[in-house]
Parts: sequence; C-alpha cells; structure tokens
Amino acid sequence: MMSLEVYTTSEALSFKLEEWRQAGMKIGLVPTMGALHEGHLSLIETMSVRADKIIVSLFVNPTQFAEGEDFDAYPRSTDDDLRKLRSTKAGIVFMPDASEIYGDAITASLKAGNLAEGLESETRPHFFSGVVTVVHKLFKLCQPDAAIFGEKDYQQLLVIKKMVSDHDMRIEILQGTTLRETDGLAMSSRNAYLNDSQRKTAINLNKIMRDFCNDYHSARELNRLPSLEGEAIRKLQEVGFTKIDYLTVRDADTLQTPNTETKNLRLLAAVRLGEIRLIDNCAI
Ligand code: PAF
Repeated sequence: MMSLEVYTTSEALSFKLEEWRQAGMKIGLVPTMGALHEGHLSLIETMSVRADKIIVSLFVNPTQFAEGEDFDAYPRSTDDDLRKLRSTKAGIVFMPDASEIYGDAITASLKAGNLAEGLESETRPHFFSGVVTVVHKLFKLCQPDAAIFGEKDYQQLLVIKKMVSDHDMRIEILQGTTLRETDGLAMSSRNAYLNDSQRKTAINLNKIMRDFCNDYHSARELNRLPSLEGEAIRKLQEVGFTKIDYLTVRDADTLQTPNTETKNLRLLAAVRLGEIRLIDNCAI
C-alpha cells in the first residue's frame, strides 16, 4: 500500500510530477469520474504492472453531459473514493475543479474523430467531444507515460486511442477488461440508479448478449443474422427493457459494419430501463 496524496491544482501537481520525472519514474494515469467500484480498482491494479507511480483523477466532466442528462445526479462519493484509493497502489489523486480544467468557459473545444460517429453519438451527440476535450487536458496536466480506460465503454476506448495517435501524444493506452457482478451485470457507477426490480431486469442484458455471441457463427453460416438480431431485440423487450438504443455487431477495430472477411468482431448494445441507460459489449 502507498500513501495517497491529494492534489486539486495543476500547479501543485506539476511540482510533484517534476520530482517523479527527475527520479526516472514511469507515470500511469487512471482517469475516472469517481463513484469508484471494483472495476476502477482493477484498472489501477493493471496500471501498477506498467507504471512506477499512479495518478487517479476524479472529475465529473460537465462537457460530456448534455442539458437534461444526469450531471447533477451523477453519484459523487469523494470520502468513500479516497478511502478505497488508500488501499490501492495509487500515489496521487487529482481532483481539479471545473475552472482548473476549463478556465472561464466550460465548453468542449476538441472534436472527436470518425470512430465517434454512430452508436453512442446517435443518442449522445455531445458526448465524445466532451470526453476527448477532458482527456486531452488531463493528459497535458498529468503528463502520463500510460493511461488506462475500461473496455466497458468500448467506443470511448477506441475514440481515445485515435485521439492519442492523431495528436501524436506519446502515451500508451491500456485496455482494462470489464468487471462484472457475479450475475454478469457489467460494473458501472450508474448501476447505483437501479432499484431492486430494475436491477433484476438488468442482469438479462449480459445473458442475452452472451447467447447472441454463442449463436453468432452458426447463424452467419446459415445466413440468418438478421433474425438472430431481431430475436435478441425481442428478448430484451420481453424482459422489460423499455428502449433498445442499439444492439449491433461491428468490426472491433473500426466500428464499421463487418463484412464476410472481418475477423475481429464486437457486439455492442445500449438499452434503457426508463430513464436509466445501460451499455455493454463483448467480443464474438
Ligand atoms: O469513462 C469515464 O469515466 C469518463 O468518460 C472519463 C474517461 C473519465 C472522462 O471524463
């Protein structure tokens, strides 16, 4: 276990970073919006294999929420987060306020590239420009050698990898596997919104997606992919999801619709239970 230092300004942080650099330390960044769960802690653990020193950022980024989304309601549990972080290998927690990141104007100034088109952007068109703006800024302030993002937000992971290569940032992007509850539900800070009955329904998302993946190759051979997709959507509706934003198979690298040659496939889905939106994905 390491002692955890809390920084709220980039100026104070920069002195510490300088000290680490002078000592030849490799720095890893784990960006989060707080409300930490086991999934976040596993990202820190994975990062500890690559980095000598780990910074965890806690910042609920306003520009990735649209008007009417859950920015105000987003779970905030700083004391609990700090308590959890004290038992990890994180050395620093960076908790900037919005002015530290954005100055006077809280706007998303960067555009996300092609990988941001479709899927999440269909319902959250503002989302990826907010994400790349804040992640770019966090990279500038924390100067990491490596950063890690969870596979649960698969499109986000690819969008950030692309941003890093487009901006020639020398930062290795690590991919953290999705941690699941014992019943298969992907861990997410937003699971805190689910009431008992919604929580029971939510389990079915991963079950239906796993069945889909198991049947995918035989359905492809039999030319019955459209009906496999239709059946999965019908099952999601039957178990009580109120809206299916998407359930679709994509090329895992480009997020384009696959063709017969595509080897690396990913099933991605976003569904709703009333106001609550759940996303998940799995390799096929
Ligand atoms: O995945 C998240 O928690 C956020 O989108 C991120 C990457 C920390 C940016 O605010």
